[in-house]
Amino acid sequence: MNNYQTGDAEMNWSRRKFVVSLAVAGGVSTFLLRDAASAADSTWVSVGTTDTFKPGQVQKMSVRGTNLYLACNQDNSIAALSPKCTHMGCTVALDLSRNQFAFPCHGGRFDQTGKNVSGPPQRPLDHYEVRIDKDKTVYVKIPE
Ligand code: FES
Repeated sequence: MNNYQTGDAEMNWSRRKFVVSLAVAGGVSTFLLRDAASAADSTWVSVGTTDTFKPGQVQKMSVRGTNLYLACNQDNSIAALSPKCTHMGCTVALDLSRNQFAFPCHGGRFDQTGKNVSGPPQRPLDHYEVRIDKDKTVYVKIPE
């Protein structure tokens, strides 16, 4: 009887180790799958060629349902900016007279590069990744 109890206890211990191993393996594979899925959840989308952008110009765009501003800086670099304020998330308005982004709710302002210049926002606007190919095609990395 004592041997039976020991064997049963060993079997429970082995079963427990097996269940724990499955849980760990499941957690690791879920993490790896989630990580791979998040990398695949973004895609590069063409938004034109560099010829379509002039220094100092800002264009409002909707790319696959994602609203953004494309700003061509004086050095011809192109920034893709989120229209969402980094203070409390209101939507930006472009103030062409000052060449700035203005947020009417609390008076936050950002310059054309997305840098916070006045008001309550403590950090720049979020950027989307931009890539320019050798053929001058401009791509923006958009979440799917
Ligand atoms: S939400 Fe933009 S300034 Fe407050």
